[in-house]
Amino acid sequence: MQYSIKCSKDLSDKEIELILKSWEIEDWFNLNSFDFKIKFENSEFHFLEIEDKIVSLARINFNFRLEIQKNLYNFAEFVGFVSIEKAKKYGSFLFNKIVANLTERKIETIGFCKMNLRPFYEKNNIQILYGKGIFITEFENNEWIDSDDDDILILSTSEEHINILQNLNEQNKAILI
Ligand SMILES: CC(C)(COP(=O)(O)OP(=O)(O)OC[C@H]1O[C@@H](n2cnc3c(N)ncnc32)[C@H](O)[C@@H]1OP(=O)(O)O)[C@@H](O)C(=O)NCCC(=O)NCCS
Repeated sequence: MQYSIKCSKDLSDKEIELILKSWEIEDWFNLNSFDFKIKFENSEFHFLEIEDKIVSLARINFNFRLEIQKNLYNFAEFVGFVSIEKAKKYGSFLFNKIVANLTERKIETIGFCKMNLRPFYEKNNIQILYGKGIFITEFENNEWIDSDDDDILILSTSEEHINILQNLNEQNKAILI
């Protein structure tokens, strides 16, 4: 099994095609490689391959900022995580590699998940801030839209920042900038 990291400009057309297919986001289906590389220029892609075949992948988004009580926090966001071949522990293997990599690089990283995915992250022994994902909000098309993710996942984050995220609530939301 091979773990690798690529920035968007180094992705092949075939890899981009596979990523878009596995994400299943309709609005992005027609992105060509050129546009994909621009759209995700502040991201890196983490892959698990077996015999040159990608079996699991994720994106780390460095274009992610939260405003909490007028303070700005830069986190990296763990997102776009998919196993192409599911239930073979490839997701767990890749996830643990990613956590170790970001921790070693001292990159503060969080992710989000819906309730149904909790068992996966619990089995992989990371800290989950249960019920805190819904307090991330965004101003879009003239209205405030709350996140539909239930939980915040702590991949690699200082205790100080974990406490700040843990204190989010209805009166103290984090604004996605
Ligand atoms: C989440 C995902 C990446 C996990 O990858 P995977 O390679 O299938 O996971 P693993 O084989 O390593 O699973 C490890 C454990 O987590 C559990 N698990 C895996 N996917 C799960 C899911 N979708 N819901 C609940 N539990 C899950 C497994 O049952 C397994 O438990 P076990 O150790 O008792 O057998 C995969 O299910 C997927 O691609 N889902 C669709 C996209 C998605 O939801 N991404 C995550 C967004 S936060």
